[in-house]
Amino acid sequence: MAFPVHRMRRLRGSDAIRRMVRETVLRVDQLIQPFFVVEGTEVANPVSSMPGVYQLSIDRLIPEVKKTHELGIPAVLLFGIPAHKDPVGSEAYSDQGIIQRAVREIKAQVPDILVITDVCLCEYTDHGHCGVVKDGRVLNDPTLELLAKEAVSHAKAGADIVAPSDMMDGRVKAIREALDGEGFTEIPILSYAVKYASAFYGPFRDAAESAPQFGDRKTYQMDPANVREALKEAASDLEEGADMLMVKPALPYLDVIRVVRDAFPQVPLVAYNVSGEYSLIKAAAKMGWIDEERVMMEALTGIKRAGADIIITYFAMEVATLLQ
Ligand code: PBG
Repeated sequence: MAFPVHRMRRLRGSDAIRRMVRETVLRVDQLIQPFFVVEGTEVANPVSSMPGVYQLSIDRLIPEVKKTHELGIPAVLLFGIPAHKDPVGSEAYSDQGIIQRAVREIKAQVPDILVITDVCLCEYTDHGHCGVVKDGRVLNDPTLELLAKEAVSHAKAGADIVAPSDMMDGRVKAIREALDGEGFTEIPILSYAVKYASAFYGPFRDAAESAPQFGDRKTYQMDPANVREALKEAASDLEEGADMLMVKPALPYLDVIRVVRDAFPQVPLVAYNVSGEYSLIKAAAKMGWIDEERVMMEALTGIKRAGADIIITYFAMEVATLLQ
């Protein structure tokens, strides 16, 4: 049946009817705000490639986390930049590490917000890779033990959810066993299951000071050309005990989000709207080329429409402010 019986415009004529028939709605409850934590006091270093994003010392982080909580955002995701880096990323699993201290302070001051910690070594190693390096290669199995130690130390500090982003094979199982062994049987694992070797992480590596000092991450992160492989990654992480799955980046991979959503309806699906996606919008807005607010909302709505339940985004506080 076509025109003139059907006129699509009938359901588009007013804000009220558009609201009523809207299929996808962004909810503050489903946003996660990332933060970068550094040593020191009264530090708020702007990240030049990410306008509005700062490296914050713990004392400056707390008020931001309070604001996040007051806006109704349920969770923050923490990245740590340690004072000292070494080949095995010791600060990543030190109980006095930057993340461990930040988590304890947030839990003391803003106990109701969920603290998610990124479990990885790249911010803590002097070579900038996500695992142990030998003869120029990133070794998978010896890295697992360190990641498991890191996850346990985050849990001990009070983290509510751990999120391994390293892309070593078998790390979800190693982390689950280690957490369970220490009595943390109820700490969920949000697995960066489907994580691509993406150029869209560029600005993040400025913020987290985690660019690899040689080579790249293509031997452990996924090839951007692959989608069937995403199903294998997701299936194996679920089998190993992941409670939630993530696809990352988001906007260039909306098809991947859809495929993973349809294949694994049993778990919450998280999408990471990464640094480069954020910076592109901020840069074009700064040039006056786009309407920042509308582009931001359209991009995030697109990520939800593709099938993500939850979105990690540097825009979270802006979106929450807008939705209030
Ligand atoms: C690695 C990690 C990265 C991001 C989150 N965790 C960078 C990488 O893999 O190089 C990227 C997030 C972003 O770009 O916003 N620990």
